[in-house]
Amino acid sequence: MARIHFLTSNQGKVREAALHLEPLGHDVLQLHVEGIVEPQSDDLEAVARSKIEQAKTHLPSKDAWILVEDAGLFVRSLDGFPGVYSAHALNTIGCAGLLRLLSHLQSKDLRVEAGLREAEFRAVACLRTPEGVLVGHGRCPGRIAATQDGEGGFGFDPIFIPRDLDLAGQPVEAGENGEISTHGRTFAAVEPATKDVFSHRARALKDLFAQVPSER
Ligand code: IMP
Repeated sequence: MARIHFLTSNQGKVREAALHLEPLGHDVLQLHVEGIVEPQSDDLEAVARSKIEQAKTHLPSKDAWILVEDAGLFVRSLDGFPGVYSAHALNTIGCAGLLRLLSHLQSKDLRVEAGLREAEFRAVACLRTPEGVLVGHGRCPGRIAATQDGEGGFGFDPIFIPRDLDLAGQPVEAGENGEISTHGRTFAAVEPATKDVFSHRARALKDLFAQVPSER
């Protein structure tokens, strides 16, 4: 059981981390630090590691656990854009602008169209403990919806539909049906607990906390 200080200004991320980590016995608190600089890098892990470094001088206590997480939406037909520029893209063109960028990608065959709209969320979670820094990675493949759907979640959730999963929780091929599905609904249209089953953030946290020694 640990108290985890999550360095982020995004309350949606804090809610999702708490939903995932509290059942594992961890306590999640939001940590605000003024003046954290987001470095220019095309690598999510480099961004997350830099924020952990910067946070080291603002620890709530010397043995505090600090969590940082960086995510992005990578659209295949846009060569990975917006990727590491996702926050800027959301603040400028937004979900509607991203849909416009893809509006020319149409096919009468729904499977072909799903392929043309392929995208994935990626997340890197970094945890600083007094013993060192651990890093976890998570991906969530899916596609960009034709229109915005749902009122929940945050960011690009209203336009992202995750790929179905098989019974082992692994994403199936694009356009295939799996046993676990949002049935074509976006992340904004499903319950938070459902997003947690699919999400890049939950997967990055799972990968990260699997590395934490169990006697902690
Ligand atoms: P950040 O740099 O990790 O905060 O995220 C980059 C951008 O991607 C922000 O605008 C977020 O709102 C968006 N984003 C990150 N994770 C998610 C998610 O799980 N769903 C929807 N948008 C997300």
